[in-house]
Amino acid sequence: MIQKVKGTRDILPPDSRLWVEVETVAHKVFSGFGYDEIRLPLLEATELFVRSVGEDTDIVSKEMYTFADRKGRSLTLRPEGTAGVARAFIENGLGQRPQPVRLSYLGPMFRYEKMQRGRYRQFSQIGIELLGAKTAASDIEVLVVLHTFLSELGFDDLIIVLNNLGDPEDRPRFIDGLKAELTPHQEELCGDCRRRWQANPLRILDCKVARCRELVADTTPVAEVVSDEARAHVDAVEAGLALLEIPVRRAPRLVRGIDYYLRTVFEVVSPQLGEDTVICGGGRYDRLISDLGGSQVAATGFAIGEDRLVEVLPESFRRRVLERPVVVVLPIGADTAAAGLAVTRSLVDRGISAPAEVTGRSLKAGLKWAGKIGARAAVIVGETELAEEAAIVRDLDRGEQEKVKLEEVPEYVARLIASDGQT
Ligand code: HAM
Repeated sequence: MIQKVKGTRDILPPDSRLWVEVETVAHKVFSGFGYDEIRLPLLEATELFVRSVGEDTDIVSKEMYTFADRKGRSLTLRPEGTAGVARAFIENGLGQRPQPVRLSYLGPMFRYEKMQRGRYRQFSQIGIELLGAKTAASDIEVLVVLHTFLSELGFDDLIIVLNNLGDPEDRPRFIDGLKAELTPHQEELCGDCRRRWQANPLRILDCKVARCRELVADTTPVAEVVSDEARAHVDAVEAGLALLEIPVRRAPRLVRGIDYYLRTVFEVVSPQLGEDTVICGGGRYDRLISDLGGSQVAATGFAIGEDRLVEVLPESFRRRVLERPVVVVLPIGADTAAAGLAVTRSLVDRGISAPAEVTGRSLKAGLKWAGKIGARAAVIVGETELAEEAAIVRDLDRGEQEKVKLEEVPEYVARLIASDGQT
């Protein structure tokens, strides 16, 4: 028996319907705000992630699926989407288009992580990137898009936490202070953090080890040492969100696990999953495109973990998607199969989900099947009725049935479904 690769998942019906519907809502909301989808390769040159996500991050140092192709080039299965968007922006000359450029994406990402609930090795992200604007308004916009999308799905308990990382120029000052505060405890830091001390001290703030977290909790927050411009920028983001009545909470030690961020960074957490299982992460990355060899293009965006999002979807959304009424079509007797499918087609045209019986079951077995799949009604297409250009519509909840002219079947069934208060 060949089994799926550890950390990957099969998403089966009917759960897959939740994914499709989430993605449909995402496309609708994003395109409403002017974001068009960009479809990018899953494979990129390894160097892209080393240079954008950062060499000392967990993602690059421990979690990438990296391999040499047949010609010995080092390739990596993308662990995130922003680096690929930045690469594509440069490579396709998107800087020549009217600015800003608004892009959305969704699809699988790969990280070799320890498996646990909500943490997979292949997972999906839904994200947007707004490139070519450095204003606070552009950060506010991406958070409004995020909030609108989550509200459309029916969420009302998610928490947006936000921090100000300052500019790269503020970093040395912050890091000097951080090191001074941590020096007395340097020996207590974990091995990774002692290495980070030299290579990339900001990453110490991102360490998951309990003792490191405790030590970091007592240090001066980065937002307290940023430049006046950076402070004004993130304060303006907060003020804008307040005006829009989008609740956010300051998280003074939030740094995010990726190196390209500056100024605004944020995450979304769910009370159901807890603070360690983040639903969405994002922020501003004004230097990424120039660091990758492009021009100066300020940018901001976010990515939602779709697997985690689906796990905590509000009950109302779940029910609406999973309890969609189904009507089965049961062709009974010789030469009724095509007529049955014609009935199915007329129901589908009317927006009704109406799978046909095609395995040759008897009426009794067909009705049993209808019961098993939770059908609301069955349209029985029998020889006698067909001769009169009619079919029998059986209301499976009420146990009643009626002969209905074929051309009137869609309308009749639609009314039957509507009578339940569902359409
Ligand atoms: P990230 O925080 O690394 O940010 O990932 C975004 C989201 O992807 C996380 O909040 C989480 O929900 C989901 N995620 C990450 N790893 C896993 C995993 N192993 N299993 C399941 N879900 C996971 C980024 O990737 C940035 N590119 C976001 C961004 C876009 N920043 C600016 N623009």
